Amino acid sequence: MNAVATFPGRPPRRRTTAPEPELSQRVALVSGANRGLGLEITRQLANLGVTVLLGARRPGAGEKAARLLRRDGGTVIAVPLDVTSGDEVQALARRIEQEYGRLDILVNNAGAYFDIDDQASSVSIDIVRQALETNLLGAWQLSEAMLPLMQRHGYGRIVNVSSGCGAMDSEGASCPAYRVSKAALNSHTRMLAMELQGSGILVNAVCPGWVATDMGGHGGRPIAEGAAGIVWAATLPSRPGVTGGFFRDRQRIDW
Ligand SMILES: NC(=O)c1ccc[n+]([C@@H]2O[C@H](COP(=O)([O-])OP(=O)(O)OC[C@H]3O[C@@H](n4cnc5c(N)ncnc54)[C@H](OP(=O)(O)O)[C@@H]3O)[C@@H](O)[C@H]2O)c1
Repeated sequence: MNAVATFPGRPPRRRTTAPEPELSQRVALVSGANRGLGLEITRQLANLGVTVLLGARRPGAGEKAARLLRRDGGTVIAVPLDVTSGDEVQALARRIEQEYGRLDILVNNAGAYFDIDDQASSVSIDIVRQALETNLLGAWQLSEAMLPLMQRHGYGRIVNVSSGCGAMDSEGASCPAYRVSKAALNSHTRMLAMELQGSGILVNAVCPGWVATDMGGHGGRPIAEGAAGIVWAATLPSRPGVTGGFFRDRQRIDW
């Protein structure tokens, strides 16, 4: 078992890990999954045989996306999820507990406020606040709510979809709200990974690269390529237990 990180004066927690469930037994939740990378991550996980809950803040768009993916034969269920709504997040955690009794994979993919024309000296603080609400606090509260569903069986994979923009040494002064929100998400990833070391729950951040979605625009790489590195992190084996890392295309990148 991995070393357990503790704070001074605090007794080490008891850790329980479990054997890896078969792919067909795993239940995944992907936020912001009605389009873009989230939709493709859902497709790839479903193709592996995982049951995927497709989170969408617009239920109609979620149902439509899930119907499309089910045509390929996968098990994909649309669930209402605005990551900024504490009530919706809690209601979803209760529903997953009642209907599945477990969650194995959480992909915090929902993201917004790529404020490419803003600068740190003049950006509206409302934009910064909203970017943090979605990209940082949304992922944070979703992880908190879903963790008990992983801890109960000692297995879990949390993937925070981040961006190289959030790396401390990234060049450029554009997208200040987005950049700060992803830097904070990276910090959260490291803390949570350290806290959960040895629990069977692996927590990593993944940058998909520049991808041709609505957010990325023309010129980016194909969506399937960007999604593949996220699905890799969502299905990491328990040994060697890679956690607390920042990756692009399965390779470590600098924070
Ligand atoms: N594309 C890139 O080049 C790139 C690069 C690095 C990182 N990323 C990251 O990859 C992730 C996915 O990006 P993408 O390119 O696929 O973006 P996208 O095409 O703009 O899709 C964003 C998704 O997030 C959802 N969303 C936004 N706010 C939400 C909220 N409060 N609650 C729930 N869902 C919400 C959107 O729902 P609606 O349809 O309802 O708006 C949509 O489904 C993001 O975290 C992004 O920061 C993307």
